[in-house]
Amino acid sequence: MAWSAQQPVNELQSHVATSSEDGTSKLLDEYIGQQRIQLMQQRIPLGPHDLCLIQPADVDAVIDMYIAAGHEERDPYWARPWPSALALGRYILEHPQYARDRSVCEVGAGLGISSIAALLAGAEHALLTDREPLALECGVRSARASGVPGVAETLSFEHVTKLLSPLPSSKMRAAFLDWSEGYTGPKFDLVLACDVLYEDFSVEPLGRLLPQLLSDNGQILLADPSERTRHNREYFVDMMLSQTERPLLLEECLAVQEEMDGKTHSVEVLRFRFRQGTETVGVKTVRRDLHA
Ligand SMILES: C[S@@+](CC[C@H](N)C(=O)[O-])C[C@H]1O[C@@H](n2cnc3c(N)ncnc32)[C@H](O)[C@@H]1O
Repeated sequence: MAWSAQQPVNELQSHVATSSEDGTSKLLDEYIGQQRIQLMQQRIPLGPHDLCLIQPADVDAVIDMYIAAGHEERDPYWARPWPSALALGRYILEHPQYARDRSVCEVGAGLGISSIAALLAGAEHALLTDREPLALECGVRSARASGVPGVAETLSFEHVTKLLSPLPSSKMRAAFLDWSEGYTGPKFDLVLACDVLYEDFSVEPLGRLLPQLLSDNGQILLADPSERTRHNREYFVDMMLSQTERPLLLEECLAVQEEMDGKTHSVEVLRFRFRQGTETVGVKTVRRDLHA
């Protein structure tokens, strides 16, 4: 199926404006190629802010769309918010110093929650990346609907290698980036990744990609469900700490609790940066309940 992320924007924008007036989960319609995907907006409190997420109303409809298009291999996990993203969003709003005036790039952004939080915390600009065009579309719309200032009305989505210069005119931009690709473009001060370690085969590509995106003095913030695929998280941390070109330090590792859908979810938030000069490599692990 040919995706058209740009085409339906104008059609939907008026609906977004209308529906944000009543602030409820009003259903929105969109046509993607020949397929119709119904969107909804959902309000989620995040610190002092109210996120307004624009997302598919029914994840099954996304799966049906993939099947109809002959893309059974694609996953619909971008189509809803996950506790890790909310936990990292909250962490960023509680530690705005990591985002303020920084350039931000998020991988596997889905609905872009942690990037939206980074912009609300004063980031200079944020680049959402994912392999799913509709995820990028929903992420950018969610930023606008959440009141992030300076997000351009219409954005065209291109591969990440094509859009990074000159400097973005929009506070938020979005681009395709598959983790399996190498990356040689500009670096970012803050690299975000939430709930991306769920497949064993993704760990090595992400372990290579994230340091490639990171500026010399930048930081990586990773959020991951505490109890799921723990072995992937441990392998990822090992990869970060033993990069041959330039090892990273794990500066912080928090276990936080996130309430969602009437359940409490435990999420690990990890903060990495490059080892500087002759700094001794040592993993400083700090555990405390952030939202307890
Ligand atoms: C579990 S979802 C998490 C979404 C979002 N980060 C969150 O926590 O709410 C995983 C995301 O990774 C994206 N993804 C999966 N494999 C990918 C790949 N190889 N390259 C780029 N994005 C990928 C999916 O499209 C999806 O948006």
